Amino acid sequence: MDYRDRVAIVTGASSGIGRCIAVDLAARGARVVLAARRAVELEETARECSARRGAAGAAAGDGVHVVPGDLAEPAFADALAAAALDRFGRLDIVVNNAGIAKHKQIHLVTADELERVFRVNFLAAARLTLAALPALVASGDGFVINVSSVAGKLPPPRETIYAASKFALEGFTEGLWLDLAGSGVHAAVIHVGPIDTDIWRSTDEPSRYRGRRFPPSMVSRAVLRCIEERRHALWVPRRFALAYGFRLLLPGVYRWASARFDPVPRAVIEAARTRGRR
Ligand SMILES: NC(=O)c1ccc[n+]([C@@H]2O[C@H](COP(=O)([O-])OP(=O)(O)OC[C@H]3O[C@@H](n4cnc5c(N)ncnc54)[C@H](OP(=O)(O)O)[C@@H]3O)[C@@H](O)[C@H]2O)c1
Repeated sequence: MDYRDRVAIVTGASSGIGRCIAVDLAARGARVVLAARRAVELEETARECSARRGAAGAAAGDGVHVVPGDLAEPAFADALAAAALDRFGRLDIVVNNAGIAKHKQIHLVTADELERVFRVNFLAAARLTLAALPALVASGDGFVINVSSVAGKLPPPRETIYAASKFALEGFTEGLWLDLAGSGVHAAVIHVGPIDTDIWRSTDEPSRYRGRRFPPSMVSRAVLRCIEERRHALWVPRRFALAYGFRLLLPGVYRWASARFDPVPRAVIEAARTRGRR
C-alpha cells in the first residue's frame, strides 16, 4: 500500500488512539486532516505528523491540515469533509475515531447525555461518511475505518448508552459492507478493548475494570491492517473475540456473569424508586 498522496481524515486526533493513528498514517507519507475540539492539542499532533512525514521523505509543511470543531454539532461533519477537499482536492481514507465515554448507572442518565453520546459516537461518524462518500468513490480506492469498542458487541454494566452508540456504529459498518460493494470503497470496524488513554479519566463513575490496558499503537496497527489487508473487522486485542464466542454459545450465563461483575447497588435502585414515587 502506497500512502503517499493519499488524504486521510482522522477524527479525535487531539489525543489517545486518534493521535496515534494520525501519526502512523503521516509516517507512511499520507496527508492528514486532523479534527477534534482542542485546537492546541491538535496542533501538537500536527507538528508530530509533519515531522514524521518529513522523515518519510514527504515535502514538509504541506501535508497536514487542522480542523478544530465539535462533532456533536451536526454541521461540523459536513464542514470537515468540505475542508479536506478544499485543502487537498481529494479524499481517500476516513477514520471515524472520535468518541466519548458514558459509564453511569442507567437510573441517572439524562436524555441530554443520551443525545450527546449518540451525536459524537455515532451520528458524526455516519454524517462524515455520507459527506465523504462521493470523494471516496471518486478516489477509486477509498476506506472508511470505524473505531468501535468491545462494548459494541458485549455491553458492560453501566455502559448501556455508550454500548448502544457503538452497536449503531457496528450496524452502520456492516450495512456499508453490502451497500459499498463494487464501489471501490472498503469499510471496516475495529472492536477496541481497554486501551491506555485519557478516556478512562472522563468516566462519570469509577470503572471496576482492573485488568491490563493496552497501548494505542495496537489500534493504530489494526487500522493499517484493515486498509492494507482489506480486513472487515478486527478485535484489539484478539482475546476479546473469545468472550464474544462465549456469549453466542451461552447467552444466559454470559448475561448473569456480566451483571455480577458490577451489580447495581441497592441504594441506587432505592433512590430511583423514591424519585419515581415523587
Ligand atoms: N481507550 C479505550 O479503552 C477504548 C476502548 C474502546 C473504544 N475506544 C474508542 O476509541 C476512540 C478514541 O478514544 P481514546 O481512547 O483515544 O480516548 P481519548 O484520548 O479521550 O480521545 C477521544 C478523542 O475524541 C475527541 N472528541 C471527543 N468528543 C468530541 C467532540 N464532541 N467533537 C470532536 N472531537 C471529540 C477528543 O478530542 P477533543 O476532546 O479535543 O474534542 C479526542 O481526540 C473512541 O471512539 C472510544 O470510544 C476506546
